[in-house]
Amino acid sequence: MTDKTAEDTFTLTNDQTGDSWKLPVAKGTLGPDVIDIRKLYSQAGVFTLDPAFTATGSCKSRITFIDGDEGVLMHRGYDIKELAAESNYLEVCYLLLYGELPSKAEMEEFRHNITYHTMVHEQVHKFFTGFRRDAHPMAIMCGIVGALSAFYHDSLDIWDEKQREISAHRLIAKIPTLAAMTMKYSLGQPFVYPRNDLGYAENFLHMCFSVPAEEYKVSPVLADAMDKILILHADHEQNASTSTVRIAGSSQANPFACIASGITSLWGPAHGGANQAVLEMLEQIGSKERIPEFLERAKDKDDPFRLMGFGHRVYKNYDPRAAVLKKNCDEVLEELGVENEPLLEIARELEKIALEDDYFVQRKLFPNVDFYSGIILKAMGFPTSMFTVLFAVARTVGWVSQWKEMMEETALKIGRPRQLYVGEGPRDYVPMDKRKS
Ligand code: CMC
Repeated sequence: MTDKTAEDTFTLTNDQTGDSWKLPVAKGTLGPDVIDIRKLYSQAGVFTLDPAFTATGSCKSRITFIDGDEGVLMHRGYDIKELAAESNYLEVCYLLLYGELPSKAEMEEFRHNITYHTMVHEQVHKFFTGFRRDAHPMAIMCGIVGALSAFYHDSLDIWDEKQREISAHRLIAKIPTLAAMTMKYSLGQPFVYPRNDLGYAENFLHMCFSVPAEEYKVSPVLADAMDKILILHADHEQNASTSTVRIAGSSQANPFACIASGITSLWGPAHGGANQAVLEMLEQIGSKERIPEFLERAKDKDDPFRLMGFGHRVYKNYDPRAAVLKKNCDEVLEELGVENEPLLEIARELEKIALEDDYFVQRKLFPNVDFYSGIILKAMGFPTSMFTVLFAVARTVGWVSQWKEMMEETALKIGRPRQLYVGEGPRDYVPMDKRKS
């Protein structure tokens, strides 16, 4: 039993013995208080059990805040809607990494540092040819990003602040180059080198879509849409991939290895893989008439089908990122001259019906960021298998900022959860000839 007392402690009482322990309660700037249970085991001899971390904070952080009930997302105190409307991705990267909006000079220096790190070691090109052309781009990204630690030895000392910063810049700068290379590799087209005269999103589109045979002009509307997609995916506090990066970093692994671990965690359809899964689902639904059939499947507990792009562990209200993307979607389709995109019509109708359906209303299942991003990315010409890679490009800055924050803490402690053991008790070894046949 627990109860909160006036001194901001929680009292934990063992109902059987009557023993009780006072646990400190920590307060954040925003959000619910947390009970600090670090001394619980040494004092009370018990652990807590929370397998999916539904009620457990894993760190203190100053970077991102989410109020899931209100549908609010802020980076360093700035609302995501304002950042998407007023800022640009590189400025958001600076904000996430360094905590403040940059001055003009700081921004110029940062832009220069990122731009002049976008090329990858020429030997990396050879690494690609070891993969099959039909490899999933995320499979290539897992390998190739981890392999960066074999190329950039001069920024691997995690205890050196300057080297940490160089690694952070390298990751933010090079991951779009690698992502574009995975796309080119799977299409069988030559790699396109980065261009220093282009902005971050513009350069990325150039590396993905230009070919040596003709000039490619990046549409400002598409570059702006890409920039917004990057902003909206930049960070999302302690989600599965970010927690994976932090856990990997806590063992003192190098930053390239840590970010590679984040990419593997992002790949799953419950997380970053959802944008690919949404589009596949919309294609599978195929027409508005079939929506009720799929809604019924989503509600059926015996059917593993879930409505992809709906629901979120933290948001129990409309995902603010989805609201921005929904608007963006119309602009992009108009720019591309795509009228009456059938998948968009299915998506809009699905959203409308689901938001009125008791099952979704009661469980507070709203569209999330991935619901509309796939439609935009498809319209831009990205293959479906690239969608999660684009999420990884955008999230790299979040992972790196969270890793940097953790490394700057005074005492880095390895993350090491405990468990409730429910296996066999001690027993004697049975020789082979005495075991059941
Ligand atoms: N379709 C149908 N039912 C759902 C869905 C869905 N998409 N999401 C949750 N539910 C139901 C779930 O079955 C459960 O019902 P009940 O209470 O009757 O058992 C209830 O809602 C609560 O769900 P949960 O699985 O306990 O929630 P969670 O916090 O563990 O999972 C989630 C969150 C995002 C993994 C889940 O909502 C989901 O699988 N959504 C679809 C995948 C998706 O769109 N993922 C992208 C998330 S946003 C991008 C990112 O951050 O990576």
